[in-house]
Amino acid sequence: MPVETLITKEQLNRRIVEMGKEISEEFRNDELIALCVLKGAVFFTTDLLRAMDIDVALDFIQISSYGNEKQSSGVVTILKEPQLDMHGKAVLIIEDIIDSGLSMSEVFKYIEKRGASKVKVATFLDKPTARKMPFDADYVGFSIEPKFVIGYGLDFAEKYRNIPEIRVLTD
Ligand code: IMP
Ligand code: MG
Repeated sequence: MPVETLITKEQLNRRIVEMGKEISEEFRNDELIALCVLKGAVFFTTDLLRAMDIDVALDFIQISSYGNEKQSSGVVTILKEPQLDMHGKAVLIIEDIIDSGLSMSEVFKYIEKRGASKVKVATFLDKPTARKMPFDADYVGFSIEPKFVIGYGLDFAEKYRNIPEIRVLTD
């Protein structure tokens, strides 16, 4: 059962407004595509984009997930490709959480190959001490301890995505 609240609605809303301002400044003179990593980042993406005051196109990518496990299988496959032409555009990859760093390293390489002029990463949560592969996001909402969290898009076995705050999943 999920019990302990880690990040409240108010805290996350405040942080996302800050991030939206910062990101708007960085991309003000670019043609920007926001690339939401399905499914976890959907909630963060829609709030972040509404906190931005620049033109932005929206696209989606889906990669293989943990399945029903709390540990990564270590294998990343693309389940849904982005649709927009990225040549000469700036792309902001939007992720829910970076844990081992494996998924984002793969997505980043994959997007770089599609001809974007600039590729940056915004993650809502980061577990920097859980890396199996070095990866630094350009924008981090909150750095957290390596505990399994749910809510605000993050799931355990497809449950709890709609909880409007971040909670630590305790068994
Ligand atoms: P990585 O490849 O290990 O960095 O894993 C990243 C992906 O694993 C995220 O996009 C999430 O889908 C999932 N994930 C990692 N940690 C958590 C967590 O604490 N709760 C829910 N999903 C997680
Ligand atoms: Mg994910």
